[in-house]
Amino acid sequence: MISKRIFAFIAAAFLSVGISSARPDEGMWLPMLLKQLNESDMQKKGLKLSADDIYSVNQSSLKDAIVSFGGFCTGEMISSEGLLLTNHHCGFGQVQQHSSVENDYLTNGFWAMNKSQELPNPGLTATFIVRMEDVTKQILAGADAAKTEAEREAIIQKNIAAVGKQATTGTHYGAVIRPYFYGNEYYMYITETYKDIRLVGAPPSSIGKFGGDTDNWMWPRHTGDFSLFRIYAGPNNEPAEYSPNNKPYKPKHHLPISLSGIKENDFTLVFGFPGRTNEYLTSHAIEEIYKVSNPAKIKIRDTKLQLLDKDMKASDAVRIQYAAKHASIANAWKKWIGENRGLRKANTIQKKKELERQFTTWVNADPTRKQQYGNLMTEFEKNYKALDGITISRDYIMEAANGIELIRYATGYAKLQQLIDSKAPQAEITAEAEKLERAAAGFFKDYNAPTDRKVFAALIGLYYNDLDKKLLPEAVRTAGTKYKGDFAKMADEVYSKSNLTSEAGAKKILADVKAGKTTGLKNDPAFILANAIDSHYKTQVLPTYTSVNDNLNLLYRTYMTGLRTMQQDKKFYPDANSTLRVAYGKVEPYEPLDGVQYNYYTTLEGIMEKAAMTDVPDYVIPAKLRELYEKKDYGPYGVNGEMPVAFIASNHTTGGNSGSPVINANGQLIGTNFDRNWEGTMSDIAYNPDQVRNIAVDARYMLFIVDKFAGAGHLVKEMTLVTDNTSGLPQVDARKKTETTKELSKREKRKLEKAAKKKKKEAAEVN
Ligand code: ARG
Ligand code: GLU
Repeated sequence: MISKRIFAFIAAAFLSVGISSARPDEGMWLPMLLKQLNESDMQKKGLKLSADDIYSVNQSSLKDAIVSFGGFCTGEMISSEGLLLTNHHCGFGQVQQHSSVENDYLTNGFWAMNKSQELPNPGLTATFIVRMEDVTKQILAGADAAKTEAEREAIIQKNIAAVGKQATTGTHYGAVIRPYFYGNEYYMYITETYKDIRLVGAPPSSIGKFGGDTDNWMWPRHTGDFSLFRIYAGPNNEPAEYSPNNKPYKPKHHLPISLSGIKENDFTLVFGFPGRTNEYLTSHAIEEIYKVSNPAKIKIRDTKLQLLDKDMKASDAVRIQYAAKHASIANAWKKWIGENRGLRKANTIQKKKELERQFTTWVNADPTRKQQYGNLMTEFEKNYKALDGITISRDYIMEAANGIELIRYATGYAKLQQLIDSKAPQAEITAEAEKLERAAAGFFKDYNAPTDRKVFAALIGLYYNDLDKKLLPEAVRTAGTKYKGDFAKMADEVYSKSNLTSEAGAKKILADVKAGKTTGLKNDPAFILANAIDSHYKTQVLPTYTSVNDNLNLLYRTYMTGLRTMQQDKKFYPDANSTLRVAYGKVEPYEPLDGVQYNYYTTLEGIMEKAAMTDVPDYVIPAKLRELYEKKDYGPYGVNGEMPVAFIASNHTTGGNSGSPVINANGQLIGTNFDRNWEGTMSDIAYNPDQVRNIAVDARYMLFIVDKFAGAGHLVKEMTLVTDNTSGLPQVDARKKTETTKELSKREKRKLEKAAKKKKKEAAEVN
């Protein structure tokens, strides 16, 4: 018995060593450091390219096919004529803008059948990275002399402006310079931003958003989450403002698309612009997130979502008004729930504590280290203690108070009142009032006061009841007493008396202000409450929050240096900060729960299974899709009578990676990233290789929808379709001419069938 247990223990220890050394799929790496840090590891895992093929400033490389799409998503070039592939949810705003009741592209999809039908999108940009550079020395010049973090930051900002200017003067390029490792290092990205980006195609929401919020953050997934745009350029292929004379942009590289698909353990690479991660937080910070912030924010959004759901179900008008707001509230809400589950499952807090103990031991073993890092852990503890009450106050103000649309909206009037109070010139006051007048229509179009009133009653109730009374703004504390906890009564009073609950009321206040009658705003009950909460935040919460975070930034900067010295053999990657990164891993299934195994891909069959659940509106599908399924009319995109839809892989991704290409060992496009699995959302804080998966639309499903569903085969013809062992490299790709689907069809089918047989045989052998 005992020996058995010991054996199991040893086996487990072995296994964990094996796992951690064999699969460090964690990391979002800097393109210019791939050669030094990752090339050999990537090649060991199957990559057939060199680091220079992925990122180079001397030759065209994969990076020339990647753009930051609008600054919030990623996109990739997939044709020599500037065709851009991204997610449906990334282009959603544009599709919505072009939609009307007569031309409802959200519902029906949109496909430009020729270039003249492509739709311009003022304000939308696509940014390429020309090159990147380590500018740490220049940016930190003189920073050592600073006595405070604020002083240091001021010096750095001055340097950033100067270095950026010097690098771009006389060019049409931009410069982005950001801190890495909490300001230990600085890198500059030279950017080229195109401004004429036109909508080319988007599937109907029933494909592009299939599964909606029901499936969001979940695997198995069946969403055709893609859309197509095109970059247009002025003379010389350079960026230009929109003009009908602009020409399709000719990219230095576009990704060839693989028809050979994926199999388990295939190498994968995700190239894109991840937004924000916090991988080096101490146990104190994670404890706060896990025990305090996430539960509070989840609870508040839970309450709000239930109220919105109810009203949206009861009225179509409200449903449309709140569709986008609901989706974005639900997106983060669901993510936090998954994050907490993942943190618990991976025992992250304990693991961080272990690391901190190790660090302390290492520090104490050497007098110089002791001097440098000796008080670090106590300082961390002290500073996080100082956030007691501050974090929770801030969470409730952001989520509960500002979660009430009226409060948030009324806070936007603070500047106007300030101008009035400070007796600013009437012209200035009028200008501000006119700005608010212009914004009013947009706000009230999607605002339903009766719904918001219910949200007010519930959320002010949570604010009052959940927090220690001494953390509340005076106005909320006294309201609790005055209304004896009956916040519905308080809501009735505020909403019936405030002018800010309707466009007419708001405009009346603004018209009065312009005419010199200024008491309306000051006496408005919604404005009074909003103002009280806002000034409480600014005087009681923000100062501590800011100063502690300044301290923490310095502590983390020191901690990073310490960790990197202690773990000489470990390769460190900086937290995501919306700059271009490479993540790599492999196509891989996972076990979400004890006793449950998830496959690594899904097919059209699964869409039919979900569509059969007629009571879930998120699973309604277009008739044409069913027809194609019934006829098994998959063209060269299906495999053995199956149509692949989505797949998962162990790439480290986060928000902003939406639309990023998933690339195979040969540099070919195999999918477009659009989400993470629920258990894996914890990877913003700590990566767990057992659980973290990114979710991508299979490129073949994209092709199938464009070609077979939408009948937009002319777009597929523009693309470069390839099979297994063709190189995805720029040079080769330029030589290889575009093949049409027709040419590929028969040959492909035979080839894919052969491959599938081989795979089956292999699988049988393994078992
Ligand atoms: N979870 C994905 C992301 O963070 C997709 C969000 C859009 N989809 C949705 N059903 N709300 O952006
Ligand atoms: N849907 C996310 C985005 O819009 C990507 C998913 C994630 O956070 O990993 O960027």
